[in-house]
Amino acid sequence: MDKLKIVGGIPLRGQIHISGAKNAALPLMAASLLASDEVILQNVPHLADITTMANLLMHCGLEINMPVAKTESFGHTLSLKPSGKVETDAPYDLVRKMRASVLVLGPLVAKYRRAKVSMPGGCAIGTRPIDLHLKGLEKLGATVTLEGGDVYVDAPLGLQGAEITFPFITVTGTENIMMAATLARGETKIINAAKEPEVVDLAKFLKAMGAKITGEGSDIITIQGVDQLGGCCHRIIPDRIETGTYLAAIGITNGDVELIGADLDMLSVVKGELIEAGLSFDQTKEGVRVRRTDPQKSLKNLTLKTDPYPGFPTDLQAQLMAMMTLAEGISTITETIFENRFMHVAELLRMGANIHIHGSSAVVTGVERLKGAPVMATDLRASASLVISALAAEGESIIGRIYHLDRGYEMIEAKLRRCGASIERIA
Ligand code: EPZ
Repeated sequence: MDKLKIVGGIPLRGQIHISGAKNAALPLMAASLLASDEVILQNVPHLADITTMANLLMHCGLEINMPVAKTESFGHTLSLKPSGKVETDAPYDLVRKMRASVLVLGPLVAKYRRAKVSMPGGCAIGTRPIDLHLKGLEKLGATVTLEGGDVYVDAPLGLQGAEITFPFITVTGTENIMMAATLARGETKIINAAKEPEVVDLAKFLKAMGAKITGEGSDIITIQGVDQLGGCCHRIIPDRIETGTYLAAIGITNGDVELIGADLDMLSVVKGELIEAGLSFDQTKEGVRVRRTDPQKSLKNLTLKTDPYPGFPTDLQAQLMAMMTLAEGISTITETIFENRFMHVAELLRMGANIHIHGSSAVVTGVERLKGAPVMATDLRASASLVISALAAEGESIIGRIYHLDRGYEMIEAKLRRCGASIERIA
């Protein structure tokens, strides 16, 4: 199993290219099941999760090829098109690798009137049920049964538009129902819809395929069903969570880096907090330059609470916590989305951080320094927080189980090494 060896204490200097968003690419790829023609996705990041989704979609009958595009030094262009054969069963060995596999449910039921998807197991950060996805599909006229760990969804007469109110925000739940509703008869309203930029990017893609959608990015998304969806070409938005991850790394190492292709409009709350902490942002023609306002001063403490978009993203909670371990004073970070998303705390303590957990809040007391140590990644964003702290810690850190990292960060060692970091992958 690969590990990362990092020797910390080097301020990041240079440029980092921001890749296409993983959490946009995954629903966009699943939505390709709805198309009766070829779709082209540009700026797709090279990630383990993308490969997993591609394998699942090929299993379902899509022909996928990844011609290496000359223009992009990062990411690739995918072509996805129906092969004529259809498989509406998504087996456990594919689904268990990645929970986002559940995103094939809506498209398969909408287009082929049935689907069988293995119930995705839980993961390190929580049980992560999909009850809201299933209730939404039942509202659209499907019957849902659970048998032997598999979810069977059937709509022999096709789906019928309905009004669906989510009791709380679910990102992939919103995406699944929006995709299913594109081919349902009549109008569907999704009330209390997720407003994430990735949901908006998916709506844009579906509309380019011929779907009739309004209200994306607001609390209420309205979809008028159509008979079929054609092909299209779509460029994936930059990854706001990757961007936020590198912002924390720049902050903690007192770096000065230009993030190429970053779109900070998707991170306005995060940017506001980082300015509070002592970072400055200067727009450049290719992205944004980020550094400490006063390199002589340490970072200031923050009080953060995770919320659905446009609030502070839960996917940046671990990364900002890592940065705050070296800030002056006491920071508080409250996690409101997932029930178990503090797995990184125990590992940060091994590096000398001072963190106490009280229920869903972590209290971080800034320390003078972190010390490199062998640590273990437990989930995707926790592993990113360990990289961030290792980049600032004195001495050498070895991070184990970095397959978690490979799920969501394209070429992370190359990107950091280009900015002077001492980081290498060891078998
Ligand atoms: C998406 O997961 C993201 N994944 C997650 O990113 C992200 O953390 C999460 O949204 C929250 O922003 C993708 O987009 C592929 P939810 P999702 O449904 O859709 C509960 C990463 O690191 N819930 O918005 O699965 C759920 O347990 C990943 O890239 C139900 O109870 O999250 C959670 O507590 C991690 N029933 C809360 O709602 C349901 O049917 C929000 O979950 C659905 C969700």
